[in-house]
Amino acid sequence: MSQAVPESALDTIFRNARTYRRSADAWLDKPVDDAQLRAVFDLAKLGPTSANCSPGRFVIVRSPEAKEKLKSALSHDNIPQTMAAPATVIVAADHTFYEELPRLYKEDDSAITWFKGKPEAIVGTAFRNSSLQGAYFIIAARALGLDCGPMSGFNNAKVDELFFAGTSIKSNFLINVGYGNPAVIRPREERYAFDEVCHIV
Ligand SMILES: Cc1cc2nc3c(=O)[nH]c(=O)nc-3n(C[C@H](O)[C@H](O)[C@H](O)COP(=O)(O)O)c2cc1C
Repeated sequence: MSQAVPESALDTIFRNARTYRRSADAWLDKPVDDAQLRAVFDLAKLGPTSANCSPGRFVIVRSPEAKEKLKSALSHDNIPQTMAAPATVIVAADHTFYEELPRLYKEDDSAITWFKGKPEAIVGTAFRNSSLQGAYFIIAARALGLDCGPMSGFNNAKVDELFFAGTSIKSNFLINVGYGNPAVIRPREERYAFDEVCHIV
């Protein structure tokens, strides 16, 4: 059995963690290096996916050239915060993920047959699990002292054309990563209380 993490860790990961967005000022001028991004991934990859299928693929847009390419696919309001972010992760899903199941899910060597020739199962599983993997990425980044700004306001087809042409990979959502500027943070929007949306049955 695992031990609960200290309250201070819960503050870092949840209570004090905010979404940095809305302007170019959202990010401090402090870079994020390769070792940090690898450390985030090495935690995030441990989060569970169905049959360990791990469909998530992550393109980390950091160079000015790659940022410029991404810019053309962003919705207008998301441009300043994304161009200013030290890195932007394209969370995507490989729709041929099931071909790797013999390696990733040795527990059941028939797992590949759950997906082969079954587009509905592929699309649903790829979307569900890559979304989870993106969420694990956010939590891992926060746990390592980074801040995030997830975004769905962009043209997925355009990102796919620009970054994944000729592949079976499709974009899901984006995450700006860096060190957030506390000066831009507004009071947190209300969240539901447990009794409003949770039912113990
Ligand atoms: C999947 C997803 C998509 C989002 N899309 C955008 C977006 O396109 N642009 C933006 O500025 N914020 C976007 N947000 C940010 C949310 O509005 C923000 O996380 C939410 O209001 C909670 O803010 P808080 O973390 O500061 O409490 C997105 C968040 C998520 C999780």
